[in-house]
Amino acid sequence: MKGKHFLSVADLPSEGVAQLVERAYSMKRGKGERPLAGKEFALIFEKPSLRTRVSFEVGIRQLGGACTYLSQQDVGLGVREPEADIARVLDRWVDGIIARVFSHRSLELLTEYCDIPVVNALSDLEHPCQAMGDLLTIYEHKRRLSDLNIAFIGDGNNVASSLALACASVGANFTLASPEDYQIPAVVLEEARRRAADKESKLEWVSEPAAAVRDADVVYTDTWVSMGDEAEKAERIAVFSDYTVDEALVESAKPDFLFMHDMPAYRGQELSEGMIDHPRSVVFDQAENRLHAQNAILAAIFSD
Ligand code: NVA
Repeated sequence: MKGKHFLSVADLPSEGVAQLVERAYSMKRGKGERPLAGKEFALIFEKPSLRTRVSFEVGIRQLGGACTYLSQQDVGLGVREPEADIARVLDRWVDGIIARVFSHRSLELLTEYCDIPVVNALSDLEHPCQAMGDLLTIYEHKRRLSDLNIAFIGDGNNVASSLALACASVGANFTLASPEDYQIPAVVLEEARRRAADKESKLEWVSEPAAAVRDADVVYTDTWVSMGDEAEKAERIAVFSDYTVDEALVESAKPDFLFMHDMPAYRGQELSEGMIDHPRSVVFDQAENRLHAQNAILAAIFSD
């Protein structure tokens, strides 16, 4: 990963995904490496953020680096200035760019015009830092990653796509339950299928949430209305109305299943009022682990 961009889980070979989880696990328990000492980062955020922004800012400081936060109002990615110009300017001052964008293409454009690594802090296509934090959380609770059944209920969105790739890379079985028109995009699915075949793990789509949840080790859900999909809100709420994760649905999961959600969580939509506080919920471990997973990603890319 050294010196490389991280736009997709697929930027790492399958073995690299497991190694990164191990690195995050050990950094979380380690004592204060400072691999980013003297390094500067630009954090470009076109969309709102709590977890990603704070965990990157805190993580960069913990590892000895410094960062400058730039909102869409400041930068105007592709609006006030083209990505090509922004990339070539930032390249002269900072050591890395961390960007949250509407279009994945904006990230690709940044990488085309700068020599410094770019890290995807969420695009419409993927949320790879989330997936790495999720694997760390699963590993901490289950002590393994392979041969687990991960059920993702709802939209085959950016979070589902990165998680499918991550699960396929480590030999975990991944099932998405979604309406037919809301599956993981073909471009992601193709690579996830290749990885799952290598590991002899399953990668499946079903339309019925109950079919995905049966015997699941992890039940995962995310918003039905991702940032950028707001215009489709009413339509999506109607289409996904049978996909709420609630206490009755998770009864057929394994007794020691984990409930996961990357948050923000919309109670009464993708999850019932009580699921965040369900005895099997690990959502706040997940939130914490964003920091540790990202620290491992930054250390792997930017250590001298
Ligand atoms: N799928 C959600 C994730 C939020 C962290 C979104 O893109 O808005």
